[in-house]
Amino acid sequence: MEHFAVVQSIIRAGLAGDREAFDKQVGRLRARLEKTGDKKSAATIDRLLKSATETKDMQPSRVEVSRGQIRGERLTPETHPPLDRETGAQLCSIEFFDSIAPSPIVDPGVENTIEGVLAEWTNATALQDVGVEPTRSLLIFGPPGSGKTLTARHLASRLGLPLLTARIDGLISSFLGTTARNIANLFEFANRYACLLLLDEFDAIAKVRDDPQEIGEIKRVVNTLLQNLDNRRDYGITIAITNHDRLLDPAVWRRFETQVHIGEPELAARGAMIERFLQPLPTTKETREVFSHCLRGRSGADVERICTSVKRALALSRDTHDAPGLFRALSTVLSRMPSLESDAARFLATDPDTYISFVANDPDFGLTQKSLAAATGYNQSRISDLKKMKKHIAPQEAANA
Ligand SMILES: Nc1ncnc2c1ncn2[C@@H]1O[C@H](COP(=O)(O)OP(=O)(O)O)[C@@H](O)[C@H]1O
Ligand SMILES: [Mg+2]
Repeated sequence: MEHFAVVQSIIRAGLAGDREAFDKQVGRLRARLEKTGDKKSAATIDRLLKSATETKDMQPSRVEVSRGQIRGERLTPETHPPLDRETGAQLCSIEFFDSIAPSPIVDPGVENTIEGVLAEWTNATALQDVGVEPTRSLLIFGPPGSGKTLTARHLASRLGLPLLTARIDGLISSFLGTTARNIANLFEFANRYACLLLLDEFDAIAKVRDDPQEIGEIKRVVNTLLQNLDNRRDYGITIAITNHDRLLDPAVWRRFETQVHIGEPELAARGAMIERFLQPLPTTKETREVFSHCLRGRSGADVERICTSVKRALALSRDTHDAPGLFRALSTVLSRMPSLESDAARFLATDPDTYISFVANDPDFGLTQKSLAAATGYNQSRISDLKKMKKHIAPQEAANA
């Protein structure tokens, strides 16, 4: 076969998971085909490469974790999870992924950390060449509803591993000694199978060891946990999640090679969430800006909830499914919410005219009057009038100003 030497190099690069070498060899093959007059095959390669980059842009790719790196038997839906001996409750749940689970929408720093961990697994052999291993333990912390559990599911699906989730409160037993035994059984199970172990609501167990109330038991539990975490390093990947990083024992904290803080999303991340959560309704940049501005300080879960309510309100109002319709629906939804933190949201909840007056006077607001008109359905001269009226300032204050 002609060009077999290059095909061999491609196979070798593919098996080693070496993307750079792979691309280089494919390029070589393409050049040879072209040179020998096989334009049609060269064009086919171009097409394949193009569609691969397109789908890669649309969906993150799965990382191939080799069997040698993650030890253990294959979990199947028939595998029984371990149980609490006293209550019979399952110590963990097992989730399998057929496709990539939704990615978290996070600020660039967090995204870099997450993608960095995945890049380590993609290039595990390169790391091992210099005597280091990819990250095997990750601690994710941050406020509730920020996408921590979502991130763990995404990572498991990207790594092609089943997710073994332990609900820490489920491990805790009122029977003396049973909690420590549950932990040991859980880790034994996790180490036996190829999986990603997720310790969700981790703070429930990793409380500071010198809690004067429960000294004996807690100490034993934390020690068991530390031993098991250390031992697990030879087997698989572990992610722990906590809302209360301050409650964590420093010795536990140190066990994790990488720590990721997911906080409240910044403006750009909120915009991307709004785009995702308002689907299937299309959004314009202007709409995303207005929504983002009103939802400052909100968690990802909040943004999702509000967007869902907006879709409901819009459907029932029979308003137009466009930017002005979404703007009015947002105003309706905010007006029903018991407490609002941002001024913009408060004004929009009270009255859209007041909101327009407020943002038109805010030098930090990101939209021009023309874009504001597009986002809200107000015409520009009305916006100018409202700007002058300063409706957002109480009449008394306005007189003094
Ligand atoms: N950063 C985010 N990106 C995308 N969706 C998010 C994000 N944060 C929260 N969500 C949405 O809110 C839901 C709850 O988030 P979750 O991951 O359970 O939060 P946490 O574990 O931090 O309390 C998710 O399933 C998702 O729909
Ligand atoms: Mg969670």
